[in-house]
Amino acid sequence: MKLSADQLREFEEKGFLFLPNVFSPAEMEVLNAEVPAILAQDRPEVVHEKGVDAPRSAFYVQTWNPVFELLARHPRLVEPGMQILGSDKLYMHQFKINAKAAFDGAVWQWHQDYETWFEDDDMPAPRAMNIALFLAEANEFNGPLMFIPRSHRKGRIAGSHDVTTTSYPLWTLDRDTISRLVAEGGIVAPKGPPGSMLLFAGTLVHASGSNLTPWSRWIVYLSLNRCDNAIRRFKRPTWIANRDFTPIEMVGDDALLRYARRVAAE
Ligand code: SIN
Ligand code: MN
Repeated sequence: MKLSADQLREFEEKGFLFLPNVFSPAEMEVLNAEVPAILAQDRPEVVHEKGVDAPRSAFYVQTWNPVFELLARHPRLVEPGMQILGSDKLYMHQFKINAKAAFDGAVWQWHQDYETWFEDDDMPAPRAMNIALFLAEANEFNGPLMFIPRSHRKGRIAGSHDVTTTSYPLWTLDRDTISRLVAEGGIVAPKGPPGSMLLFAGTLVHASGSNLTPWSRWIVYLSLNRCDNAIRRFKRPTWIANRDFTPIEMVGDDALLRYARRVAAE
């Protein structure tokens, strides 16, 4: 899937792009049929909320689930990344499903992903980005992602290592910095049905609140990096900061439905 010149300009200007209804309800059914069993697995890659028996994130799922293996190579997700990052040689720096579980889903503090990729993984430049696909609806109540438009233009902003407020260590930004950025750019929270896509720059400042609703806010994230910008520090496990820099080879656009038809015929 190719982005138009207008869409590329909008991404450049704001640091993100929201594309509702990119995947069909039938494709979303194929993906979502896998999710409860993935989040219920007892393995290190499935991280739980602090002090609560609720899943927070399932990492590296593309290596241990065949449907998400196809999704990680899907042209509707990967091709826009190639356009924006300006290279057809991209690898998966991180792949995760964030559950933001009904009632228990906790916050993600304000941060730029690139600050963590720089501090923890020694990624040379912010030539990496996120492609998110909504597996469930994101609405105003269930902890949608919040962005500060145009904050990506500041480049990397030094943060501090938060190892206390949530179960997942992250380099986060202080309140003065956030107040200043919000005074300039405001806050937006793109919302939409399952199958919607959200593309955002590695330096875009973002966060999300807790989920007090009965509606889990499942989102799958591909963090794509240019192969010529591979990380140089291997402090975090490979399932969090991937050390396999093999370029992604895309599957066909109909890969999910073909998979479902093949499984049904077996
Ligand atoms: C993230 O910032 O990496 C995840 C935020 C979210 O899923 O709410
Ligand atoms: Mn993030």
